[in-house]
This record gives sequence, structure tokens and C-alpha cells, in this order.
Amino acid sequence: MNIVYNDEKKDLPSEQLHRLFKLVGWADGAENSDMLKYFNMPFINSTLVISAWENNRLVGAVRVLSDKIIRSIIYDLVIDPEFQNKGIGQELVKRCIEHFPNSEWAVQTTEEISCYYQKIGFKIYKDVFLSIPSRWQ
Ligand SMILES: CC(C)(COP(=O)(O)OP(=O)(O)OC[C@H]1O[C@@H](n2cnc3c(N)ncnc32)[C@H](O)[C@@H]1OP(=O)(O)O)[C@@H](O)C(=O)NCCC(=O)NCCS
Repeated sequence: MNIVYNDEKKDLPSEQLHRLFKLVGWADGAENSDMLKYFNMPFINSTLVISAWENNRLVGAVRVLSDKIIRSIIYDLVIDPEFQNKGIGQELVKRCIEHFPNSEWAVQTTEEISCYYQKIGFKIYKDVFLSIPSRWQ
């Protein structure tokens, strides 16, 4: 397994990104053609995108919204199930933090995944988190 990481490419191929999202249950395959075409837009519009590749196959990705100084938030950390538990997720998060090492780092996730991030050094945030859901949720 030779995994190559890319810290610069934001325009990940929509088709491959959709495939990853589908494999982990974040997309159901019922997305219309416009959604599929623009599937990578949230990545393109993010501050930082890091992807993991085996040859031309996209096997992992993560995106970050950040002011590059004080606050950064991780979204859409996803690893192809065939490539999970091989350290790729941890490597992607590590690389994110290295880009803005003095920033606060946040991630919103489920109870189950929270221990994954706690192992990497994240602590559960005690304050209240409020949101208005997007029309896509
Ligand atoms: C969660 C996820 C990103 C982890 O990435 P990964 O590359 O498989 O994990 P890594 O190889 O970096 O880390 C492996 C370690 O994390 C643990 N781990 C893996 N998946 C986990 C999970 N779902 N919950 C808790 N711990 C998990 C493993 O037990 C292992 O622990 P160890 O180092 O003590 O042996 C990946 O399983 C995934 O894409 N899941 C589906 C999408 C998802 O839920 N993403 C998180 C969104 S916030």
C-alpha cells in the first residue's frame, strides 16, 4: 500500500468523492445530477483540503474551514472502508493541524467517533453549541 497525500488539491473529483461518501453512508445514491456535478464545491470553498491517494484512487479526504490564526474546524473526514484502520485518518488530521499549529481545532461528531478524536488530543467541549441546520441536512 503506497499512500500519497496531497495538501494542495481542493478540486477533488466529484465522482470519487461521492463514491467515498456513499461507502460510509453519507450519500445514498439518490443525489440528482446537479448535486453530483457540484459534489466537490464544499471542498473547493474550504480553507484547506487534504486528500489521500493510492495511485489515482481517492481513498481519504478531509476539509477545514479556518481563519488560519485562531479558529479552525474539521469537516468530512472520510476514509474508504477498504483503507480504514491503517493510520490514514490520523495522518490527515495531523497534517491539518500542522498547517495552522497555533489555532484552536474543533470538530463536530457523534458520540461514537468522539473517542477517535480524543485519542488524537481533542477534548470534549463543555459549552453549548448552537446551530441552524442547512437545507442539505
Ligand atoms: C473514523 C475514520 C475517519 C477513522 O479513520 P481511519 O483511517 O480508519 O483510522 P486510523 O487508522 O487513523 O485510526 C485507527 C484508530 O482509530 C480507531 N478507530 C477507527 N475508527 C473508529 C471509530 N469509528 N470510532 C472510534 N475509534 C475508531 C481504531 O480503533 C484505531 O485505534 P488504535 O490506534 O488504538 O488501534 C474512518 O473510520 C471513517 O472514515 N469513518 C466513516 C466516516 C466518519 O465517521 N468520519 C468521521 C467524521 S467526524
